[in-house]
Amino acid sequence: MTEEKRFAFGKNWQSFRVDALDARRIEEAEHGLERLFGLGALQGRTVLDIGSGSGLMSLAAHRLGASRIVSFDFDPDSVACTRALRDEHARADEAAWSVTRGSVLDEDFVRSLGHFDVVYAWGVLHHTGDLWRALTHAALPVRPEGRFAVAIYNRVEGALGRFSSESWTRIKASYVGGSTLRQDLMVGVFAAWQAAIKLSRFENPLREVREYHKSRGMSWLHDARDWLGGYPYEFATVDEVSRYVTHLGFRTDKLLPVPTDGWGNNEFVFIRDTA
Ligand SMILES: C[S@@+](CC[C@H](N)C(=O)[O-])C[C@H]1O[C@@H](n2cnc3c(N)ncnc32)[C@H](O)[C@@H]1O
Repeated sequence: MTEEKRFAFGKNWQSFRVDALDARRIEEAEHGLERLFGLGALQGRTVLDIGSGSGLMSLAAHRLGASRIVSFDFDPDSVACTRALRDEHARADEAAWSVTRGSVLDEDFVRSLGHFDVVYAWGVLHHTGDLWRALTHAALPVRPEGRFAVAIYNRVEGALGRFSSESWTRIKASYVGGSTLRQDLMVGVFAAWQAAIKLSRFENPLREVREYHKSRGMSWLHDARDWLGGYPYEFATVDEVSRYVTHLGFRTDKLLPVPTDGWGNNEFVFIRDTA
C-alpha cells in the first residue's frame, strides 16, 4: 500500500483538538471508558493506548486514575496531538504518561513495551492494512487476567438501500485518492444523505450532530471525515473477532455489538486467561 492511499488520521485529530475538544468532551470520553470497563476500573491500573489518535482516551484514562499510560500511534501527527494533550493536561509528566511513535504491526516494538493491566485499541486495528496480524500483536502486552478492549468495524452485507462493507472500502479509497474539493463534496453529500434519512423518519437531523459529544467525546464532522476517508479499511463480524481472540487465550468480558446491518464498530472487552 502506498503512503498516499492512507487517510491523514493525525491531521483530522489535530483539527478535532483545535476546533472541537472542550471540557464537556473530555468528560464524555471518561464516561466512554467507564461504560466499557466499569466505574473505578482504571484506578491504579497501567494502560496501553494503541493508535491513540487525538490522545483523548489516554487523557480520560489519566483522569480516571490510571497509574501509568503508554500511548502510541503510527501517524506522526496523531503522536504530536496526543503529546500536546498530555503536555496541556498532565503537566508533560513523561513517567506517568509516555507518548511514542510506533506501529502495532511491528512485533518487536510492541513486545518492547512490556505488559499492562489494560490494553485499549479502539477503532485502530482495522486501519492498519492487516487486521488479524494487528489483533495478534495488540494482544501481546495484556498481562494474565488483564483486559483487552478493541473496537472493530462490523462486516455488513449489501442490500437494497444499504452499502456493503466492500462498497465502503471503495468509497474510502476514492476519498483518500481525491482532491480536497472532492473530499469536501463527499462530506457534504454524506451529511445530506444522513439528514434525508433522519427526515424520512420524522427526526431532527441536527439532534445527532448536537448530541454527538455523548459518543466518547467525539465530533460529528471529524468522525464523518474518518468514516468516509478511514483507509486502509477492514471489517469483521462479532463471531470472527470473538473466535480469533478466544484462540489467543482470552475469554469475553463484555460485548457491545452494533446491529447486524450497522456499519459502526463492535466493541469487545476480553480478559486474558491465566494459564
Ligand atoms: C480512528 S483513529 C482512532 C483513535 C483513537 N483510538 C480513538 O479511539 O479515538 C485510528 C488511529 O489508528 C492509527 N493507526 C493506524 N495504523 C496504525 C498502526 N499500524 N499502528 C498504530 N496506530 C495506527 C491512526 O493513525 C489513527 O490515529
